[in-house]
Amino acid sequence: MIRASAPAKVNLVFQVGKLQSDGYHPVNSLYLELDLREELSLTKGQAGSGVQIFVRGENLPARHINSVPRDNTNLVYKVAEAMFARAEVVLEDLEIDILKRIPVAGGMAGGSADAAAMLIACNEYLHLYHQIPRLAKAELIELAAEFGSDVPFSVLGGLAVGTDRGQKLSALDPLGFETHWVIAISNEGLSTPAVYDRFDELAGGTSFTELGQPIGSIAELAEFMVNDLEEAATYLLPAISQTKAQLVELGALKAMVSGSGPTVIGLFASRDSADQAAQELSSAGVTCFIASASYGGTRLL
Ligand code: C5P
Repeated sequence: MIRASAPAKVNLVFQVGKLQSDGYHPVNSLYLELDLREELSLTKGQAGSGVQIFVRGENLPARHINSVPRDNTNLVYKVAEAMFARAEVVLEDLEIDILKRIPVAGGMAGGSADAAAMLIACNEYLHLYHQIPRLAKAELIELAAEFGSDVPFSVLGGLAVGTDRGQKLSALDPLGFETHWVIAISNEGLSTPAVYDRFDELAGGTSFTELGQPIGSIAELAEFMVNDLEEAATYLLPAISQTKAQLVELGALKAMVSGSGPTVIGLFASRDSADQAAQELSSAGVTCFIASASYGGTRLL
């Protein structure tokens, strides 16, 4: 059995430009990896079983688990097809088990993390069972963009600037201070294309700024954080405003929508202060948990 784990992300900065003729928006994104991870295991399946996908969850409401497709529309299936085709090996019977910890359709790259874990796992599988030379991490990051704009970052991890669709990455040195996050998840998901459509209607957006500079302190980070999709996400799910206000009330240095939302992230300087805020927010009926910055990206276990 081959096991891989892949991290969630938040966008500390997410600046979005005007819709292009290819249907995408240019973005300028500062990605940060969190220590909240999906786990995937890949095993040779029983003869004739085809590709089977099993999903279970940890600390997530049932909706998040039930809504994950188990068929060939799941990104992990697409990754298997593409990796086997690339290696010129006929797609065989596979059992894929996913342990989900990242909210689904939450703007935290949960589906992208699964795709990233599958890329790394398939790379190993094809080497072990079919003697196909392993692709280097840089090659996997390049391939990853085929499966979604956030998948390359899910493979790379750490702190990085993403441009173009978010898939062109330049890695940065880790932040020089700790960051701890309260992740407040919504009962409803938001579809990324729907949020971008609303963004177009609002004709919003800020101008792109230089994101490669070191950030000196947590206060500077709080000041620096911005998400151009926040207004569109809040329009589609007005409850976001309330969650943001609650997080600020509980001491967050900044509360903001992550990616295309609707997950709201609150920034805290210590694990203890994040933990306390999360307990109070839970008591107020908001599903939430805590996470901290981490580095290393997707890896085999
Ligand atoms: O790349 P990904 O599959 O995650 O994108 C999902 C959808 O989100 C795209 O089809 C597009 O509608 C929208 N999108 C966008 N601009 C980006 C990334 C995504 O408009 N930079």
